[in-house]
Formats: sequence, structure tokens, C-alpha cells
Amino acid sequence: MLELVLHSLTDTEALGRILGRGARAGDLLLLSGNLGAGKTTLTQFIAAGLDVPPECYVISPSFSLLLEYPGRLPLYHIDCYRLGGEDDVEGSGLMDYIVADGVTVVEWPDRLGRLTPPDRLEITLSDAGDGARNVRLVPHGQQWRERLADLHQACIAASLIARIDES
Ligand SMILES: Nc1ncnc2c1ncn2[C@@H]1O[C@H](COP(=O)(O)OP(=O)(O)OP(=O)(O)O)[C@@H](O)[C@H]1O
Ligand SMILES: [Mg+2]
Repeated sequence: MLELVLHSLTDTEALGRILGRGARAGDLLLLSGNLGAGKTTLTQFIAAGLDVPPECYVISPSFSLLLEYPGRLPLYHIDCYRLGGEDDVEGSGLMDYIVADGVTVVEWPDRLGRLTPPDRLEITLSDAGDGARNVRLVPHGQQWRERLADLHQACIAASLIARIDES
């Protein structure tokens, strides 16, 4: 597990760009946190790190469930907020994008329930006041566990205060 303090939007941008630059085909990032925690904001910066052109501004997909952006890899931005649970997810056809060759970012991933894929990076944001956010990154699956050390190094290089917990 990796824990970070994002003191401002600048730090959130740095983390998003790290995640976007390091993204690989098939990556699944699950973003949790309260309304306004910064999930969509982080996704915008992940898009920037994936070289999504700035004119393809990432808006909240709340009303469309899925937005697709062209980057170094395709970015699928999914917001499950309005879905009731896994039956809704199954009926929506979103699973084709959640297990896809691009990079998939899912807000409100608790809705996936038993459909949650085993390989994923879980990112939880919480408001720490004054524009700051606490972030926890939890890797699931061997590949993400192996990649956590690189993420840690990249966060340190970007002057993000990072704490890694091997437990
Ligand atoms: N350090 C920070 N990181 C991220 N967002 C921040 C930060 N500081 C302030 N903000 C602001 O907090 C708001 C976060 O809104 P955002 O839409 O990203 O939240 P969300 O988690 O996607 O919410 P929702 O669950 O409603 O989709 C934005 O207005 C953003 O500018
Ligand atoms: Mg959002």
C-alpha cells in the first residue's frame, strides 16, 4: 500500500501524470472517495499523462456512464455512481470496457461487487482540508504489486510525500 498527501491540485496533477505516463494496456484503476473527493480531477490528469489532447477535456461522465478518450492508449472513464449494483453493471455492457485493452478508470467502483476484476489498482481519495487530499493506493494482483515500488519512486521524484507499507 502506498499513502500520499496531495497538498494541492499541483500535487494531484503530478500523481495523475505519473499514473498516466506509466499506464499499460489493460490497466484498471478504481477510484473511490466521497462526492467531490477529486476522482474526476485526478482522471483529467491521468488523461494528460496518457497524452490525451487538451481539447478532449475530461468532463465528469456521470450522465453518460462512459467517456472514451484517444491517448497513447485509449482511456475509458466510467462513472458507476448511478448504477444500483452489479446487476446494473452487467446490464449496462460496461464490463467490456472494464476488461479492455486500453486504460480504464472507474469512479464509484463499489458498484462492481463480485464483478470486480482481480487485477487492479485501488485508489482512495479523501478530503484533508484546504485543497489537500489524502490518497491511498492499494495494488491487487501480482503485476500491480510489482509496479508499486516504481510508483513510489516516481512519487518521491515528483516531491510527493509517500509512505509505503509492505504489509
Ligand atoms: N488537491 C486536490 N485534488 C483534487 N481535487 C481538488 C483538490 N483541491 C481542490 N480540489 C477540487 O475538488 C473538486 C473535486 O471534484 P471532482 O469532480 O474531481 O470530485 P469527484 O470525486 O469526481 O466527485 P463525484 O463523486 O461527484 O464524481 C474540484 O472542484 C477540484 O478542483
Ligand atoms: Mg467524479
